[in-house]
Amino acid sequence: MRHVLAADAIAITEPTSETNLNLLIVDDERSVRESCREVARSLGCGVEVAGSPEQAYRALAATSTDVVLLDLRLPGKSGLEVLEEIKQRRPETLVIVMTGFATVQSAVQAMKLGAYDYITKPFNFEELRLALERATGHLKLTTENRLLREQMKSKHGFGSLVGQTPEMEKLYRIIAKAAHSTHTVLILGESGTGKELVARSIHSSSPHRDQPFIAIDCGSLVPTLIESELFGYVRGAFTGAMRAKDGLMATAEGGTIFLDEVGELPVDLQAKLLRAIQEKEIRPVGGTRPVPINVRILAATNRDLEAAVQQGKFRRDLYFRLNVLTLRIPPLRERKQDIPLLIGNMLERINRATEMQHAFGDDALRLMVSYDWPGNVRELENCVECACTTCSLPTIQIADLPTPLRNFQAHAKPADGDSATDVITPLDQLEKQAILHAVEVLQSDKLEAARQLGIGKTTLYRKLKAYGSAY
Ligand SMILES: Nc1ncnc2c1ncn2[C@@H]1O[C@H](COP(=O)(O)OP(=O)(O)OP(=O)(O)O)[C@@H](O)[C@H]1O
Ligand SMILES: [Mg+2]
Repeated sequence: MRHVLAADAIAITEPTSETNLNLLIVDDERSVRESCREVARSLGCGVEVAGSPEQAYRALAATSTDVVLLDLRLPGKSGLEVLEEIKQRRPETLVIVMTGFATVQSAVQAMKLGAYDYITKPFNFEELRLALERATGHLKLTTENRLLREQMKSKHGFGSLVGQTPEMEKLYRIIAKAAHSTHTVLILGESGTGKELVARSIHSSSPHRDQPFIAIDCGSLVPTLIESELFGYVRGAFTGAMRAKDGLMATAEGGTIFLDEVGELPVDLQAKLLRAIQEKEIRPVGGTRPVPINVRILAATNRDLEAAVQQGKFRRDLYFRLNVLTLRIPPLRERKQDIPLLIGNMLERINRATEMQHAFGDDALRLMVSYDWPGNVRELENCVECACTTCSLPTIQIADLPTPLRNFQAHAKPADGDSATDVITPLDQLEKQAILHAVEVLQSDKLEAARQLGIGKTTLYRKLKAYGSAY
C-alpha cells in the first residue's frame, strides 16, 4: 500500500495558519483522500473529494474550487490529460500535482502544462501545509491584482459601464462576483438600460475573456430556424442541409452565450434550452447523439418573466434555471446623478471622432437631467449624438435638443411638474446662478448687474472672481 502521510501528520490538529481555500482532492485511493481531507480541514480549507476524473469535473462545475490536489496516477486516464482538462475548464484554478518519487519527470511535465506546484509522495503534514500556504499566498496576490485591474479599467465606472451612483456601484460589485462564478445570470432591465453591455462586462471580467462572447437575440430569430441556429444540424437533417453546421452554442465553446430577449423564445425551444443547460449537452437538429458543451449562459429580458410564467408562456423550470443569479439594472430616472457623467463621456467620444469641442449649455444640461428618459441610456446617447449634429454653435442649447425634450420643457410646470424641484439647491449656488445670469443677460455691464441684483459693485466683482468667471 502506498502511504501518503507520515504518522505525525494526523497527530497535529491545531492549524498553524488559516488558509480558507476551497480544495478539491482527486485521488483514486480512498485512504489518501481521507488523510489529505483531514489535514486540509484542520487548516481551515473547504474540501471536496473525487475518486475519478469524471467526479472531479462534476465537482469543478458545481463548486468554486481554488486549488486542486491531483494525483497523477489515476486509473484509465493519464493524470496529465486530466490536468489539461482541468486547466481548460477552470484556467484560474491552481493545480498541485502529487507524484511518486519514480515519476518526478512527469511532475516537471505537469508544471509545463500549467500545474502550479507538486509534492512527492509520501509527504507529511508539513509539506502539504506548506504547499497549501504557497497556493493561498499566490491566490491572494492574483485576487488583489485583479481587483486593482478592475478598478483601474475605468475611472468613471466599471469597464465600459459609466456611472458612479450607489445603485451602479452595487451593480459593479455583483458583476465582479458573477464574472468569477459559472452560474447562469438573468439580467433584468428596461429597454436601453445596458443589459447587453452588462453581459459583455461579465464576460470580459471573467477568466474566459479570451474565449468567444456570442449574443443571440431570441426575439429576432425566425421561429422555425431558432433550433438549428442554436444547436446546429447534421448533414441531411433537412432539404438543403448538404453538410453539418455547428450551432451558436457550439461556436461559443469555452466562452459565454448571451440569450437576449429570452422571454421571446417559443415554448418548445424553452424545453430544449433547459435540457442543454441542465445536461450540458445539445442535440443538433437531425442528430441522434448528444454533443457536450461547455459554455457560460447569460440571459436578459425587459419583459416580466414572472408574469409570463404565471400565464404559462414561459416555463417555470427554465425560469428558475436561468435565474440562479439576478442582476437588475436600474432605469436612468432612478440614477439621475449619473446623467452629467454619461453625457460627458459621450461628448468626449464624439468630440474625439469629429475633432469638435461640443459642450452643453447650463439650461440644456438641466433639462437633460430633469427629463425621465423612458428609453434610458440608449435614448440619452441618441439625444447627445443628435444634438451634436444639429447645433450650429459648439455650445448645445435647448433648441438643439430633439422634440421629446423640447416638448417636455414646454409642458414642464416648474412649480410641481419638474422632478428637479424635489432637489434642494443650496443658497450660494442659487446666488451664483443669479449673478452669472445677470452678467450674461446684461452683456457684462457689471454696474447695471449689481444695481438690478441689489448688491454692491465690489461684492459683485469679489463673487465673480471667486467663481473664476471670465466676465
Ligand atoms: N452604464 C452605461 N455606460 C455607458 N454606456 C451605456 C451604459 N448603459 C448603456 N449604455 C449604452 O447604451 C446603449 C444601449 O445599451 P444596451 O444595448 O446594452 O441596452 P439593452 O438594455 O440591451 O437595450 P435593449 O433592451 O433595447 O436591448 C449602448 O450603446 C450602450 O453602450
Ligand atoms: Mg439588448
